[in-house]
Amino acid sequence: MPEPETPQTTAAKKLFVKTYGCQMNVYDSERMAEAMGAEGYVTTDVVEDADMVLLNTCHIREKASEKLYSDLGRLRALKADRPGLKVGVAGCVAQAEGAEILRRSPVVDLVVGPQSYHRLPQMVAAGGRQVDTEFPVEDKFSVLPERKVTRGPAAFLTVQEGCDKFCAFCVVPYTRGAEVSRPVARLLDEARGLVAQGVREITLLGQNVNAYHGAGPTGAMGLAALLREMAKIDGLARLRYTTSHPNDMEDDLIAAHGDLPQLSPYLHLPVQSGSDRILKAMNRKHTAEAYLRLIERIRAVRPDILVSSDFIVGFPGETDRDFQDTMDLIRTVGFGAAFSFKYSARPGTPAAERAPVAVEIADARLQELQALIATQQRAVQEAMVGREVTVIYEKSGRLPGQMVGKSDHLHAVHVQDPEGQIGQLVRVRVSASASNSLAANLLSRIP
Ligand code: 5AD
Ligand code: SF4
Repeated sequence: MPEPETPQTTAAKKLFVKTYGCQMNVYDSERMAEAMGAEGYVTTDVVEDADMVLLNTCHIREKASEKLYSDLGRLRALKADRPGLKVGVAGCVAQAEGAEILRRSPVVDLVVGPQSYHRLPQMVAAGGRQVDTEFPVEDKFSVLPERKVTRGPAAFLTVQEGCDKFCAFCVVPYTRGAEVSRPVARLLDEARGLVAQGVREITLLGQNVNAYHGAGPTGAMGLAALLREMAKIDGLARLRYTTSHPNDMEDDLIAAHGDLPQLSPYLHLPVQSGSDRILKAMNRKHTAEAYLRLIERIRAVRPDILVSSDFIVGFPGETDRDFQDTMDLIRTVGFGAAFSFKYSARPGTPAAERAPVAVEIADARLQELQALIATQQRAVQEAMVGREVTVIYEKSGRLPGQMVGKSDHLHAVHVQDPEGQIGQLVRVRVSASASNSLAANLLSRIP
């Protein structure tokens, strides 16, 4: 009789991933974890247990790359205790600084850019210190393993990468490269796979998502056509997309907001500034008036749409008058949310050559702008009180029997629902508005 086989008990290697910056990085981090998963790595939330640490970086503003170097400093001590520990730097700082990271930080083994991270397993297997910041001919998405990890019912799906717009302040065209759209059929497959795993909401991601023009069965398809195909997937309750550029808000995309029930009444449409002079200097190629007219057209088909934006204050040459134009635009639009930033010079961008606005002035403007946005955000949230909304539960709340999810307008909503399950859709009536969330009472469950 043959001997019974003894099971192999080699412990899986552990991977710790830290993500900085945008939602696209969140998506990329998941894909990198899957690529390493195929090599036997499991993810851990405890950095001290890790055999490999991956920092997926952001280069968009100064603070983002400063954070990387302070984290690397901390990893030095950990690596002293765990000599086998591998440290990788991915993302846009990796792309921008490449081998400089290896020189500056001896703790780093691997540097990999956003377009070459599918090669991470090979780099790890090869050993030694390596840099790969190429824009390879092979498409990373066709090499990466199929998606299997999801974190609840809301998932991201990258449909487009890169940007050809070259706003004068922005590094994205340099770090992420030229605009590339993924083919429609692959995206539909990935979306169906996600829904089969219980995903109910998909956010289509791209640096310039509404410039999407992926290959479809009968030629290139735009974002509106892609959304319409996605909306046919059974079980997919909610669709969103981000981030858009005002100049790519085509008629069919605006129309989709009026007639696609799955499409969230939420639009993140950065304007950056309300001053035509500054918009021109930023190379935005639209005026404040054009933005206002666009918002009017979108509100004509979807009156309750919640509009959000990004703003930069203290762009080189910004005067008080320019800043007041931005404040006027904000008053006219009425934003439901916004991200606002003090301008920071990014090396290699055209605006970095220009004299900066005094930091105290920029600080004061940022505070004033954020106070106005906060007032508008509160008003939009308070206007939800008494209304019936649909919520997709994403997790349990802190109180017993409480569930937390997002409404169609992307407000966080707390519901007392002891029978509630993650991933469930419910109709609720909003009862109160707190600082960053709504409270609501359960009305019914949506099958
Ligand atoms: N300084 C400040 N903010 C910036 N952003 C992009 N580049 C810079 C910069 N150099 C902001 C823009 C963009 C958002 C993602 O980050 O508002 O829309
Ligand atoms: Fe950067 Fe967006 Fe401008 Fe492209 S459109 S350059 S990603 S700010």
